[in-house]
Amino acid sequence: MINPTDSEKVAFITGGARGLGLETARQLGKMGMTVVLGVRDATKGEEAVKALRAEGIKADTVAADINTADGREKIRGELERTYGKLDVLVNNAGIHIEPEVSPLAPANNTSSVGPDVLRQTFEVNFFTPVQLTQILLPLLRKAPAARVVNLSSGLGSLSLHSNPEEWIYGLKPFAYDSSKTALNAFTVHLAQELRDTPIKVNSAHPGWVKTDMGGAEADLELSEGAKTSVELATLAPDGPSGGFFHLGQPLPW
Ligand SMILES: NC(=O)c1ccc[n+]([C@@H]2O[C@H](COP(=O)([O-])OP(=O)(O)OC[C@H]3O[C@@H](n4cnc5c(N)ncnc54)[C@H](OP(=O)(O)O)[C@@H]3O)[C@@H](O)[C@H]2O)c1
Repeated sequence: MINPTDSEKVAFITGGARGLGLETARQLGKMGMTVVLGVRDATKGEEAVKALRAEGIKADTVAADINTADGREKIRGELERTYGKLDVLVNNAGIHIEPEVSPLAPANNTSSVGPDVLRQTFEVNFFTPVQLTQILLPLLRKAPAARVVNLSSGLGSLSLHSNPEEWIYGLKPFAYDSSKTALNAFTVHLAQELRDTPIKVNSAHPGWVKTDMGGAEADLELSEGAKTSVELATLAPDGPSGGFFHLGQPLPW
């Protein structure tokens, strides 16, 4: 059912042309929000928008390289000119570029991962969401009660990683894991800074989801995988801020 207040909300989702980003946009759009897809490739963005509009969703796209200051400024400018505020920011775009370590090939590359892989992973998974959120914060403040969702991973949890009983104990792609741990730190720090505002900031673990990143063997379908982001993007005023969640359940940091 569409919540009438959702029909005035605007959500910006990075990595919106496919995978969890597109599905999150679809689910938020079905609630009545206007969804703006952040994409790298304008053509892919237009195709995704066309598919969403065919489902009755109010959808738009901004093509920009979010990893550059110019790209982020382009996004800020277009959102400001068109909508004047931002109700939901989903920092969804992310990379995992350590193919030698995956749920199907659990291993630990900490002693061998190269600096380029570390830097590139941190650029996309940490520095970009931090800088994009910073530049969009004035627009988030203009919304009545904005929500920021940072797409983390259970693999970012140091508590789970250090517990030999946990399934991820033997699965340690160091660049990916540590970039998500850093993103979790951003969640905690920003939520504390914004504690006296209506803005809520949380980290999401979507589960192991069938996407290009998750692979065909993953246990969750896209529709289930996007639920945690959607829940955190639509939290009630008394909902949590500065937490880490999977399908409504808190996860340890
Ligand atoms: N799938 C899982 O099992 C799983 C589990 C835990 C956490 N996550 C997290 O969930 C988020 C979405 O993952 P997904 O499974 O949907 O991944 P995906 O299918 O691989 O999609 C990744 C998305 O990120 C964008 N992207 C990739 N590299 C980028 C770059 N350098 N700059 C800007 N955008 C870039 C892609 O855009 P293009 O279309 O332009 O390439 C695409 O939209 C990620 O942050 C991931 O770490 C996923």
